[in-house]
Amino acid sequence: MKAIILSGGKGTRLRPLTYTGAKQLVPVANKPILWYGIESIVAAGITEIGIIISPETGDEVKAKTGNGDRFGANITYIRQDQPAGLAHAVKIAQPFLGDSPFVMYLGDNLIQSDLSLFLDHFKAQKLDALTILKSVANPSAFGVAKVDEDGRVLQLVEKPKVPPSNLALVGIYFFDRIIHDAIAQIQPSARGELEITDAIQFLIDASKKVEARQLEGWWLDTGKKDDLLEANRIILDTCLTSSVEGDVDEKSQVIGRVQIGRGSKIVNCTIRGPVTIGSNCHLENCFIGPYSSIADSATLIDADLEHSVLLQGAQVVGIHQRIVDSVIGQRAHLKVAPQRPKALRFLIGDDCQIELA
Ligand code: G1P
Repeated sequence: MKAIILSGGKGTRLRPLTYTGAKQLVPVANKPILWYGIESIVAAGITEIGIIISPETGDEVKAKTGNGDRFGANITYIRQDQPAGLAHAVKIAQPFLGDSPFVMYLGDNLIQSDLSLFLDHFKAQKLDALTILKSVANPSAFGVAKVDEDGRVLQLVEKPKVPPSNLALVGIYFFDRIIHDAIAQIQPSARGELEITDAIQFLIDASKKVEARQLEGWWLDTGKKDDLLEANRIILDTCLTSSVEGDVDEKSQVIGRVQIGRGSKIVNCTIRGPVTIGSNCHLENCFIGPYSSIADSATLIDADLEHSVLLQGAQVVGIHQRIVDSVIGQRAHLKVAPQRPKALRFLIGDDCQIELA
């Protein structure tokens, strides 16, 4: 069994963060989204992993993620020159996959459930394809499945205007090698992409064994700012364990589950978990409230923050109104003068959103 993880795409819904980086590397609780996928694949016993990268962000994904040693896996990078669809990604991964069955995992998804449950079912039933579903309120935004009571898939449609059910395709699929034959038969869709849903529909029409299982736990598609904050909240809530490696002075209070990385200095702050703070950060005279993630080398001085994500090297100084529900990008600076400011001075990148609420 092998795995491919898709880590290309332009990440338009997460702009401006994705102007300067891959959406799969945006951190959730200070860890790139992509790494959660790698870890759950390895936890299911699959260590031969191909990561599909794009020319725009591939080098960054490679540099950050490495050859797989840190995960106990062997990672091969496969370049997809055009975002020509999920089935196209499988096509170019064929030399890596050979005749092996495989799991395909979309690199911007986060799921709670253990993959091995699905993998065991896929193997035991000798399925040609197994898709994972989750009922959602807005099925038109996804691939949608119609299934019978035994879990057999009857129909799949990509982003239907009139959805046949409320069961969305979570971005995780298990395939036998026969999927390559189906992909060779399909044509690009109206949006010009080779759709994996069309390839699976081809298998269904050829009476192959295509089943679906529903996901019990949560599924987060980290496409937008609020999804990202929600993913951050859930991961901090369920996975964070306390560990303080940085320096916390005696005037500071650390309450609940809090992680503070090496080389970070915390001076006269109240930190109320769950909160994760990376390494080499400087926090002084701050209140950091629950569900906050602060990446490496960030600076916060005279600031209040809650339910927010700060990326690497961000600086927040002199803001005592509480910053909430915010995502602040890498190296962004937010500063307010100590005396009541008489003017507001901005250099704001494309697609940023500033709300003085
Ligand atoms: C892709 C798939 C879709 C699936 C979704 C899950 O859509 O085409 O079937 O439901 O991922 O995240 P995309 O996110 O590329 O629009």
